[in-house]
Amino acid sequence: MTVMPRPSILSVEPYVGGESKIPGVNRVVKLSSNEGAFGPPPGAITAIQNMAAEAHRYPDGGVTALREAIGTRFSLDLARIVCGNGSDELLALLILAYGGEGTELVMSAHGFMMYDITGRWAGCRIIKVPERNLTVDVDAMLAAVGPRTKLVCLANPNNPTGSILPQSEIVRLRAGLRDDILLVLDSAYAEYVTRPDYDAGAALVDAGGGNTVMTRTFSKIYGLGGMRLGWAYAPEAVVGVLARVRGPFNVNAAAMAAGIAAVQEPDWIEKSIAHNTEWRGKLAAALTTAGVKVWPSEGNFLLADFGSPEKAKSADAALKSRGLIMRAMGGYGLPACLRISIGTGEECQMVADAIAAFMAQHG
Ligand SMILES: Cc1ncc(COP(=O)(O)O)c(C=O)c1O
Repeated sequence: MTVMPRPSILSVEPYVGGESKIPGVNRVVKLSSNEGAFGPPPGAITAIQNMAAEAHRYPDGGVTALREAIGTRFSLDLARIVCGNGSDELLALLILAYGGEGTELVMSAHGFMMYDITGRWAGCRIIKVPERNLTVDVDAMLAAVGPRTKLVCLANPNNPTGSILPQSEIVRLRAGLRDDILLVLDSAYAEYVTRPDYDAGAALVDAGGGNTVMTRTFSKIYGLGGMRLGWAYAPEAVVGVLARVRGPFNVNAAAMAAGIAAVQEPDWIEKSIAHNTEWRGKLAAALTTAGVKVWPSEGNFLLADFGSPEKAKSADAALKSRGLIMRAMGGYGLPACLRISIGTGEECQMVADAIAAFMAQHG
């Protein structure tokens, strides 16, 4: 006899993050975790340094100053903002609170992996719905919903596909779901979207059904992945649930200080969007010219399709030999693809050159 967790937990495949080191290579360019091209905002770096001497103090459990700053930045009611240790934590808390044994969680076939991982932890049956051209198919999602469905989780834009649903489709999805199903709109990449027909999720939360939540992160455009900071905008009742299940100090003091400074950093978002749009386009064009299929992306990354798992693997090895780390996609069921985060202009150029050289040899 030995100690055993709940059986569903052993069905979880542990999350494997992006690699960050290559043995024997000094200069490594890490484009495997969509971390933002510019590092942390300068004001956030200063804020983290300035709070270091206060590190013995417990942080404000109510996270008031940060929620105020987020509310001001995004014109949202701070009473409906809940912060977490990365949006991963908030997604997990939502899935654990609303899912559980005997329930179902519906997600798209290549939806963000954490829904599957936490859904299994919670004991939910995970239903993965086929996509159309790597884009969420609303009709198929609705058809997959059954009487036990309690959660529908959707990243918009989606990681790793980069695809997006316009607001009209999200509204149609919500309208087709029963009222007792929580729709989780994970908008980790919202800031990068340039399409005008997009809403990150606040509109549906505000529509008042009480059953839609938007999650956001500081790990992407704000360059603070290492601080672990995310937030949710949720209906009052869901805010109440999160208040019951979150740790009393789930957001640490350094993350809070950094987050406040980040949302107040002048021109940060504008500069980051302009850079991302420019280099996402340039890199996509360069890869296409080299003979690699690139899926359309609204995020800060591209999904590059090499046509076969073998070729993707060789491309990955060739890139690594030049110190360039991408994200292999076998774990997502896309073994012919590599996901490439948009880095600095120089980094994107290095990737473009390396892939062009690889394709010239192996095309
Ligand atoms: C779609 C999506 N949601 C959530 C997250 C988690 O972000 P965080 O760092 O806020 O936990 C990521 C990070 O890769 C993501 O791609």
